[in-house]
Amino acid sequence: MKAKEILAQMSVKEKLMLTSGKDFWHLVDFEKYGIPSIMVTDGPHGLRKKEGPGMGIGDAVPSVAFPTASCSACSWDREALGKMGKAMGEECVAEKVSVILGPGVNMKRSPLCGRNFEYFSEDPVLAGEMGAALINGVQSTGVGTSLKHYAANNQETFRMTGSSNVDERTLREYYLKPFEIAVKKSQPYTVMSAYNKINNVPASGNKHLLTDILRGEWGFNGLVMTDWGGGHCHYEDLNGGLDLEMPGNKQLYLKETLKAYKAGKISDEVIDRAALKVLELLEKTADIASANATYDVAAHHQIAKDVALGSIVLLKNEKNQLPLKANVKPLVIGEMAEKPRYQGAGSSHLNPHKLDTFLGALQAAGIEYDYEKGYEAANVKDESFIDAAVEKVNKDQPVILFIGLTDDYESEGSDRLTMAMPETHIKLAEKVLEKSKNVVIVLSAGSPVELPFESKATAILDAYLSGEAGADALADIIFGKVSPSGKLAETWPLSKDDVPCSDTYALVERNQVNYREGIFVGYRYFNTANVKVQYPFGFGLSYTTFEYSNLVVDGNKVSVDVENTGKVDGAEVVQLYISNKTKATIFADAELKNFDKVFLKAGEKKTVTMTLTDDDFKFFDVAKNEYVTAKGEYEIRVGASSRDIKLTAKVKKDGVVVDELAKFKGSWFDTFKGKPTDEDMKLLGIEPIHETTIRKGDYTLENTAMDVQGSGFGKLFYKIMLVAVRAALGIKKEEQDLIQNKMMIDSALNISFRGMSAMSNGIMQLWLASLLVKFCNGFSRPSKKKEKNK
Ligand code: BGC
Repeated sequence: MKAKEILAQMSVKEKLMLTSGKDFWHLVDFEKYGIPSIMVTDGPHGLRKKEGPGMGIGDAVPSVAFPTASCSACSWDREALGKMGKAMGEECVAEKVSVILGPGVNMKRSPLCGRNFEYFSEDPVLAGEMGAALINGVQSTGVGTSLKHYAANNQETFRMTGSSNVDERTLREYYLKPFEIAVKKSQPYTVMSAYNKINNVPASGNKHLLTDILRGEWGFNGLVMTDWGGGHCHYEDLNGGLDLEMPGNKQLYLKETLKAYKAGKISDEVIDRAALKVLELLEKTADIASANATYDVAAHHQIAKDVALGSIVLLKNEKNQLPLKANVKPLVIGEMAEKPRYQGAGSSHLNPHKLDTFLGALQAAGIEYDYEKGYEAANVKDESFIDAAVEKVNKDQPVILFIGLTDDYESEGSDRLTMAMPETHIKLAEKVLEKSKNVVIVLSAGSPVELPFESKATAILDAYLSGEAGADALADIIFGKVSPSGKLAETWPLSKDDVPCSDTYALVERNQVNYREGIFVGYRYFNTANVKVQYPFGFGLSYTTFEYSNLVVDGNKVSVDVENTGKVDGAEVVQLYISNKTKATIFADAELKNFDKVFLKAGEKKTVTMTLTDDDFKFFDVAKNEYVTAKGEYEIRVGASSRDIKLTAKVKKDGVVVDELAKFKGSWFDTFKGKPTDEDMKLLGIEPIHETTIRKGDYTLENTAMDVQGSGFGKLFYKIMLVAVRAALGIKKEEQDLIQNKMMIDSALNISFRGMSAMSNGIMQLWLASLLVKFCNGFSRPSKKKEKNK
């Protein structure tokens, strides 16, 4: 039976039942209509399928761990991402999973976001393109994806309750853009709404985002689901454009929603839309639950390696220290060479079939080496291994030094406080560099780290978190089998303090997060304000050299000749930026609009052609509430990084005359002095909102156990929750600070009463949650003072 035919036979109650999941990872089934239950699960860098009930971090069925998004984005390679997506889809089919929860295309507002490793870039075009390529790959196998977390989900601190307060232009041009690109270029089967609110409207029921923009303007025809436990009032969410609430929870909202239906608060039309979207998803992916497929583990491992090979970034290579010769017998230092950090912590955590190590790769290649671990990840503060390692260093033997961030330093569920690496890693690096100039530093981390020793280092490779085969790929690059071709998908600031939002990020603004800097994030800020950075966006070295010539701009077609002028084969990422010179309003120095990765044999020359669209010249005019082209001059820039522009051309565009610049005179957007203030934000057409302490009497279902500690009952409740959460998750008190555990505990405690209900598998019904809130309020009436911090 077809989705529409089934819908026509269903009662309102049955339709509503479809709009909530069945359990943690399944959708509702209806035998009488022949509807099977399908499985949806994480994502996004490979399949995390848990057998049995529950969240299941750490005990998923084996799958291939592909490079994380922060790594694979550095490939700038749509084809590679497509192959990786296809492989992920094949694994889903073999495991009977209908939808994989990813990719995540959120922007990197700050390098401190604990979940940045799961996101591609600080640039919306790069993130959107990588996301689209991955989605198209997955969906070519018939498996659906869930583009997440829509939208403006840019910090982990208070991730389930915070509001991202952002002006419309910034929202459209920056935070929504990667979603727009991915939706238009790949039509993901599903989109996952974010936990957070946007301008104090929950993402899960945000009509502006879900109905007007996603469906109305972009033509999205799939299903919108909540993030896990991220739903709010279900009928309001459905009214806003949501179709499915996850995880399933014994039909928690059914009674309330039916009541709302009877009271005319939700229409048949809305219920039909949501139920139909679920039925259509079931229809599209129906074959997967009954498929009898396997996949080629070795071939997928190779794909993971290929993506890593194209993604690892060479940050520094003085005197061509790299590649090393195979007969040099290096001294390898750093436990990460034997226990690689290859993936991030949290819901994306995979259980790989096979994990390559750098030492293993050397052994397989027959390369002799000495090894000292230098530190232990399990006890990152222990400095006792440093001296033994440093003692082995002598200036005639090249050192390959592995350092970076351990799981304790970055994870879903919490943000970093600094960009520093563990003290032990820094001390080790400094001491090794004092003794030798012959050191290759390999960094493993999901996001940028401070490099206080950078000027003393001669060679630095950034592996990010490069998946299960990343170590093997590293060996190929270090010993010159392959020339590195990754380019940074984000700026590496010198310090976190250089980032525009660093004065408030996560620590100061937790529930009301004001995006005062507007569009000036990442290189849009650093390059416009001329701030010195460690490494610019788009940067990455190679073992060969490339020459650019003959830039031709023919309408929206831009072509350029690129020649490999070095002695070895290599690939170059050609980047196309537009600099808006019209002075219509404030603009970033330039924005990436397209790119291509081209492989060139030594001495080879190719013409690279990239297209622009008319939209690439537009900005979002808030007054007109639409994208417009400002009349005037634009510079087309082609380069090897955002700060290494090789060729430029000027073009003129006809369009509207906008004269908005004067109002920004003297503001942060004009001077870039200090940090943007509330007054600056107001110039963007939006009022900043300040956090207020929620007082006893004002607590609602939307508050968290943390919020309600202003009452005696609330305090007690918080303590009980801590114990209960530990028990429910099977975490011993002495193990509650281990990062995986801490993340789960923090997420559980930073969840609203409504969310607790939604994640309780039917144990905490809504009436019980409401009663608890009443107890916290001491049964008093809400205070008159308007509650701002909901
Ligand atoms: C994460 C999602 C994930 C979901 C299911 C949430 O906590 O934010 O990205 O897909 O859990 O594990």
